[in-house]
Amino acid sequence: MTVEAGKVANRATSTLPGRGTWWVQPASVAVGFTLFVIYSFWSVVLASGGHGWERGPYLSPFYSPLIQLGWFPFSSAILVAWVPLAFRGTCYYYRKAYYRAFFLDPPACAIAEPKFRHHYNGERGFPLILNNFHRFFLYLALIVLAFLWVDTVRAFYYNAGLYIGIGSIIMLLNVVFLTMYTFSCHALRHLVGGSVNCFSCVRGGGARRGMWGFVSKINPYHGTFAWFSLFSVAAVDIYIRIVSSGAFGCHFTGHFGC
Ligand code: FES
Repeated sequence: MTVEAGKVANRATSTLPGRGTWWVQPASVAVGFTLFVIYSFWSVVLASGGHGWERGPYLSPFYSPLIQLGWFPFSSAILVAWVPLAFRGTCYYYRKAYYRAFFLDPPACAIAEPKFRHHYNGERGFPLILNNFHRFFLYLALIVLAFLWVDTVRAFYYNAGLYIGIGSIIMLLNVVFLTMYTFSCHALRHLVGGSVNCFSCVRGGGARRGMWGFVSKINPYHGTFAWFSLFSVAAVDIYIRIVSSGAFGCHFTGHFGC
């Protein structure tokens, strides 16, 4: 009876205006995620040699904060990159996106799951149970974000003076997108405004109310910031690697440059 109802719903929705193209969004998400995962794996794990991830005042966000341990035989980025990876991987927005794109669970709004998707157990088994730790990954991601702001400020200060380069500007854009993504997080909204029935009755209520109001305002755009920040992280890394390769002939002298 349930299957029949699903079939009817599927037939009905597929004839609605625009519903025939329901597959475009999950397909785009699958392509975007796959490209990012391949690129970030290459940058974090395979391309750590030769210091292509830093140049002049620039440091790739994949490698920040820079932790270099003499005894660690692998890429130093591995020591930190798992934090933003875990933060994004357990994000409520990304969960919806990759459940649809990779697990077809369901593939789109009002589109029934394919027949082979009959064993979904929720988020009670490994690895999906890790999604319940999102708030803890948020705390760690806030620390990483603070380091990224330090890197960005440093990118504007080089050779004991002001330096403004294309790299400084895209690093600034990247950290702004990352900040908006992090501060529009549902778990952060709960952290600052949850469990409170009356802001004026709790300590720091005014500040919490202000913060909750800000997070609530940008929260509806969380998905947009998720994509902007995903691409900006990759863009900064790509730019620094190109500069580091010497392709632009940058010397980082003076106050303006690459
Ligand atoms: Fe997306 Fe928290 S819900 S980062």
